[in-house]
Amino acid sequence: MYISVKEAMEQEGKEVDLRGWCYRERKSNKFVFMVLRDHSDIIQCVVNKDKVDEKTWNEANKIMIEASLKLSGIVRKDERAPTGYEVDVKSLEISGQGGVFPITKDQSQEFLLDVRHLWLRSRKLTAVMKIRSTVFEAVDEFFRNRGFYEAAPPIFTPNACEGGATLFKVKYFDDTVYLTQSWQLYAEAMIASLEKIYCNSPCFRAEKSKTSRHLAEFYMAEMEMAWAGLDDVMRHAEELVSFIIRKVLEKNKQELEILKRAVSKLENIRAPFPRITYTEALKILDEKEGMKIKWGKDLRTIEEDLLMKHFNSPVMVTHYPKEIMAFYKPKDPNNPETALCFDMLAPEGYGEIIGGSQRETDIEELKKSLKKQGEKTENYEWYLDTRRHGSVPHAGFGMGVERMVAWLCGLDNIKDAIPFPRTMLRKSP
Ligand code: 4AD
Ligand code: MG
Repeated sequence: MYISVKEAMEQEGKEVDLRGWCYRERKSNKFVFMVLRDHSDIIQCVVNKDKVDEKTWNEANKIMIEASLKLSGIVRKDERAPTGYEVDVKSLEISGQGGVFPITKDQSQEFLLDVRHLWLRSRKLTAVMKIRSTVFEAVDEFFRNRGFYEAAPPIFTPNACEGGATLFKVKYFDDTVYLTQSWQLYAEAMIASLEKIYCNSPCFRAEKSKTSRHLAEFYMAEMEMAWAGLDDVMRHAEELVSFIIRKVLEKNKQELEILKRAVSKLENIRAPFPRITYTEALKILDEKEGMKIKWGKDLRTIEEDLLMKHFNSPVMVTHYPKEIMAFYKPKDPNNPETALCFDMLAPEGYGEIIGGSQRETDIEELKKSLKKQGEKTENYEWYLDTRRHGSVPHAGFGMGVERMVAWLCGLDNIKDAIPFPRTMLRKSP
């Protein structure tokens, strides 16, 4: 029976059957040393010419890097081995030979992206993808435990949600549609039946920016709640982020170690998070950074980063200027120049991880804002119907999954937070 490398480490002195890929190999006249990799870990294996039959010795001598293979052997503790154990191989069989593996040491980021399909086998990306998987699990668990239904969005959409500038056009039979920027408008329709819903699905934005934070295709974990306001969803947002962090710390110790992530920076993060208004953020930038931003201008990456120098937990910035916000964000009745909205900014320079708001319920206000943003209100008639038939106060948010993963893993670039990244300059493999 095949067991995993990790399980084998608990079978000291016993014979085990393993299968995986050759991570490293070194051959001499008498020994073949090989590090075997499977999904769980790596383990050193040694083939001793004097202890195996000729067939196994010959087979072992053919092994190339990244060959897939099956072997049987006895597990021993060995301090010198990379993960503390070694397998004395008794028999071995190559399943798929390795060929000349194109990835060697010290290759450029661009090259590694060209061979992403192979580079995904690296310990680093394997660790990231496991953490990503935990994030997906945590999102599901968090919302389902709180009585949310999962509701899938359409990907082809006739409307913009976050402004026309970043829409991807797709030929749709004899017509044109767009790839979805956000599930939100559909969620606003579905809360009239399900009330509390969430999804975690792909979003697309034709982002012209070549930053370390933008992807053209990314996952957004979104939630929408009927009978809720800004405060309700902000509480869910900070509790979601805390929950994900706890889950990753609990399940992915080994992966965080492989990534050399300073876990102390995550361990101390617990909801509630500090809340400041946009206006207060400008004040901090002015007083502490000598940076004067004109009231009404959006915060750019550089301003977000300077602001976050003064915090070591996520911060929720609320009440941005209404004027520069998406059409569905309502004005604050107490301060009509501002909107009932928030962004959650991550510490350590990871920027905005969540955007959310209460939703406008007044049809006339919605139409006015749509027109201002250059949209044809006819295209949004179906959406406006949600306000004509049993409209309720509601609110929601979206969390950028890759931004979250990049922060959790301490990555330099968001591209490593998704298996096959798509950006303005990269669409393959
Ligand atoms: O702030 P955004 O644009 O909000 C919305 O789309 C709302 N409709 C969500 C909602 O209320 N249901 O996007 C939400 C989050 C951002 O905070 C960011 O983390 C991530 O999605 N995001 C991106 N991540 C990677 N690449 C991009 N191009 C991203 N654009 C947004
Ligand atoms: Mg945003």
